[in-house]
Amino acid sequence: MTHDPHDHGHRHHGHDHDHDHHHEHDHHDHHPHDHHHHWESADYVRSWIARDEDRRGEREPIIERLVTAVPFPHDAGIEVIDVGGGSGAIAQAILDAFPRAVVTIQDFSPHMLDSGRARLARHGNRVRTVLSDLRDPAWTKTAGGPFDLAVSGIAIHNLHELSSIAACYEAVRSLLKVRGAFLDYDHFDRVGGVPLHQHMLRVAGFAAADVVWHEHPTAVIKASV
Ligand SMILES: C[S@@+](CC[C@H](N)C(=O)[O-])C[C@H]1O[C@@H](n2cnc3c(N)ncnc32)[C@H](O)[C@@H]1O
Repeated sequence: MTHDPHDHGHRHHGHDHDHDHHHEHDHHDHHPHDHHHHWESADYVRSWIARDEDRRGEREPIIERLVTAVPFPHDAGIEVIDVGGGSGAIAQAILDAFPRAVVTIQDFSPHMLDSGRARLARHGNRVRTVLSDLRDPAWTKTAGGPFDLAVSGIAIHNLHELSSIAACYEAVRSLLKVRGAFLDYDHFDRVGGVPLHQHMLRVAGFAAADVVWHEHPTAVIKASV
């Protein structure tokens, strides 16, 4: 699995540490490129999307669990943000299940957003996209909102550093309305484990963080405002 393009994120060594005296435990398969290069590359994105199509059957049941855990009635006119929403797999499931929902897809990869816009064109103005980097603390300023619901699919672990992930959870919390919720589907076990992330979500200001589904290394966590 070492050339699984999807796996690069967890091997990324933070640049901050590269100049430190202490060396992080060297992964034998250390990749010199920052994961930025991947999502900024049209070729990488093309191959990621092709591969994602192939594993649709594998991802669909997980996305279904996420959709089932949404704490709003299906006819609610909810405002939703898909964090690191990329080519729109999660957004699509929300738009289909909640016919009055409006979804903002946030991502830092123009190529992923192009693909998302194309995939979701039939939903017209129920879809918005916003280009921003989750590691820029100002990303929330252009995100819109406040939102009833935030969703995210295998995106936030890409930030790799726990401090960046914690900041992202706080930022997501700040974008939500009272009674809002954040459904996060991610490879939590690759970045410290599910209980740690439940804790981080509570520290970020969520009143509760419940595990909806978990199958190593992936889980869906529902964080409630
Ligand atoms: C594995 S893809 C998942 C895309 C989509 N959420 C899905 O479930 O199909 C990860 C996404 O996170 C985005 N991403 C990674 N790091 C990011 C960052 N720092 N800021 C914004 N988006 C980021 C990538 O561009 C990519 O679209």
